[in-house]
Amino acid sequence: MAETEPSLPPAYRLIALDSVDSTNEEAKRRARDGAEDGTLIWAREQTAGKGRGGRVWSSPPGNLYLSLVLRPDCSPAEAAQLSFVAALGLGDAVGSVAPPMVEVRYKWPNDVLFNDRKGAGILLESQLTADGGLEWLVLGCGVNVQHYPREATPAATSLRFEGAPASLDEVAMLEAFGRHFLGWVNRWLEEGFAPIRKRWLTHAKGLGETIEVRLPKETLSGRFADLDAGGALLLELENGQRRQIAAGEVYFA
Ligand code: BTN
Repeated sequence: MAETEPSLPPAYRLIALDSVDSTNEEAKRRARDGAEDGTLIWAREQTAGKGRGGRVWSSPPGNLYLSLVLRPDCSPAEAAQLSFVAALGLGDAVGSVAPPMVEVRYKWPNDVLFNDRKGAGILLESQLTADGGLEWLVLGCGVNVQHYPREATPAATSLRFEGAPASLDEVAMLEAFGRHFLGWVNRWLEEGFAPIRKRWLTHAKGLGETIEVRLPKETLSGRFADLDAGGALLLELENGQRRQIAAGEVYFA
């Protein structure tokens, strides 16, 4: 790449690409080939960016697309908490580079909202060992810095649309994310999920409110009561019963 290299803490091994199909796919290829923990794939654009649930992630130049190869010594269930760790890293990064008019909220399980519209997303993919342990994990993050897809439902946005200056670029976001994610991941490694959960809840969208959760076979409506100690959403149904939800799509009233 012609431009100066982004400045990142030494914990990362940066691989900077002009264009790639998907940084997650590239990270998975490299993880299978033995890429070490902290390998960070960053691309200026993606030609086949992927969202959750097989959706397309719009990936023109001007936004941030990165995927990290991680090899934490933990169970696959614990590793799933890294999506909350990444959300906090993204939220703090936005807070440090964007103007205060951009309010960050977290939408369960792993979206980051800017002024109530989706501005960043996280996609975790992992490889298990033969005995069900975690071999590696790829943590992909996309941040709409300059552009957002106009046709998205629920509505999307970008930092630029919410008032960030045109001079705020994806390199500044990458550097800020690199710093803040590292801070949170070290906290998670040392103290576990409790501080992550606590911080995430202080900025959670819809906490205490009535929400709808779409599951593969049913749609539930209830009060978003809490996040449990592992990251599952606790939904209080009308009959007072609590349901623990590990995966689903949340919709607000
Ligand atoms: C979602 O909210 O649906 C998750 C979006 C994840 C997008 C990022 S962009 C970098 C990485 N590469 C991909 O193909 N997807 C993730």
